[in-house]
Amino acid sequence: MLHEPHPKAPGLPAGITEPMIRRLVETFYAEVRRDPLLGPVFDARVEDWPEHLDKLSAFWSSVVLMTGRYKGRPMPVHIAIPEISRMHFERWLALFRATAKTVCPEPAAALFIDRAERIAESLHLGITIHRGEAQPGVTVKFGAQ
Ligand code: HEM
Repeated sequence: MLHEPHPKAPGLPAGITEPMIRRLVETFYAEVRRDPLLGPVFDARVEDWPEHLDKLSAFWSSVVLMTGRYKGRPMPVHIAIPEISRMHFERWLALFRATAKTVCPEPAAALFIDRAERIAESLHLGITIHRGEAQPGVTVKFGAQ
């Protein structure tokens, strides 16, 4: 059925549910908005926060429950934000890791964090290539050291 979790979705054995996703997204973006580095980047662009939170909940639902609820393309959205730097990604991930560990039980937090790190790497690489700053053979990894 449409928007049901896929039977093979990685979030199912990790105990992830739609309400858990919603709680994570709401808590995370409340932190983001308060953050001195990230807050201004979002406030300059997000006009409708309830809509943004719906969209990001749909995004995470598609990533971990494979529901297909999100239909967008995050890469062009982030490429179009000129002030994003590696520092922003580090901060975004630090906040995301801390929030996931507070809001979710361990296996769920670990899955969210793993996916966030991989997607951040891919967005960062896309931005770097778009700006003509990519260095052959050099990939920035955002996994916890
Ligand atoms: C440097 C860190 C990041 C910054 C500053 C940032 C900033 C933003 C901003 C300002 C928007 C809203 C754009 C708009 O409505 O015009 C947005 C949208 C979005 N972001 Fe990020 N982002 C970051 C990292 C990430 C990461 C790591 C992910 C995924 C794990 C992500 C997923 C998304 C998604 C799915 C959207 C919605 C795209 C759409 O409109 O379909 N972002 N981001």
